[in-house]
Amino acid sequence: MDLLSYLRQTPCHDELIALILYIAHQALPIRNAFPSNQMAKTTKNASGETQAAMDVWADQHLIDELRRTGLVKELASEEQDDVLFFEEDALYSVVMDPLDGSSLIATNLSVGTIIGIYADSIYTDSVLREELKKGEDLVAAFYLLYGPMTTLVLSVGDGVHSFIYHEKVGEFQLFHENITIPDGTQYGSGGTRDEWIPAHMSVLEYFNEHHFKVRYSGSFVADCHQLLTYGGIYTYPALKKKPKGKLRLLFEVNPLGYIITQAGGAVTDGYKDTLTIVPTEIHEKTPVYIGSKGIIQDIERIYREF
Ligand code: AHG
Ligand code: MN
Ligand code: MN
Repeated sequence: MDLLSYLRQTPCHDELIALILYIAHQALPIRNAFPSNQMAKTTKNASGETQAAMDVWADQHLIDELRRTGLVKELASEEQDDVLFFEEDALYSVVMDPLDGSSLIATNLSVGTIIGIYADSIYTDSVLREELKKGEDLVAAFYLLYGPMTTLVLSVGDGVHSFIYHEKVGEFQLFHENITIPDGTQYGSGGTRDEWIPAHMSVLEYFNEHHFKVRYSGSFVADCHQLLTYGGIYTYPALKKKPKGKLRLLFEVNPLGYIITQAGGAVTDGYKDTLTIVPTEIHEKTPVYIGSKGIIQDIERIYREF
């Protein structure tokens, strides 16, 4: 079954189907842009991080293409300071990390594009535009993973399904249906030992006691993707000098949190489900533990002791 056939059997509105398909098909131009965009830029993004040429290319490409569709009301990007306002009457708004895992571009390890879609606006009131919506308000989330295969992993609130791009037919074909995340015994943690807070040290101790092995690539989307097969945990915790960690709630944690939760997993900042957080600004960061549900429950139990 191809992506369009799958989407047509869901309750998704035609415009949402068109939007998902349109973004999905940007995987090819993005993939093809890697060889000529290998350098780092001197520019910095809204989070103060030095941009890779591919960050800028993928961002500009998706902005141009999404504006052109006429299907997007508002677009918020990790690489843009402010929300972009496109088609006032459009039915959907998009949040995106155009290229996640930028530090791996030069190493040719897997990186991806992360997308979240909200009905109408990314704000709870599209006229006042004051309060941002929570992750649990997403109507769809997916990512494109540029690995040995071009993979799309999607949830429209009806479980998690993966699709593989087949070049000969020019379509994404269903690969795994109704993916559920197993318990697993692997973890990957961002930050360094000298930066970790006591609660996180306790969580790592728990991982050691349960004989977890390490899997951390430097690409959140790729590391979450392997959780769907093997289970376990990805974490970028609060650090001593960065109490909100590194990852961005709107562009990274919410779309992946939505997908992992749809696969029967869970996501937490240590204390609560990050999908319930009301963001105070578009580039807000949050500590994150994401993965197998039983392990997340144990992590929240450990955090309650601190
Ligand atoms: P991005 O490439 O979009 O800036 O995101 C990078 C994120 C995430 O993908 C990854 O897990 C993490 O930052 C890696 O950070 P460290 O290099 O600090 O481990
Ligand atoms: Mn990212
Ligand atoms: Mn990015």
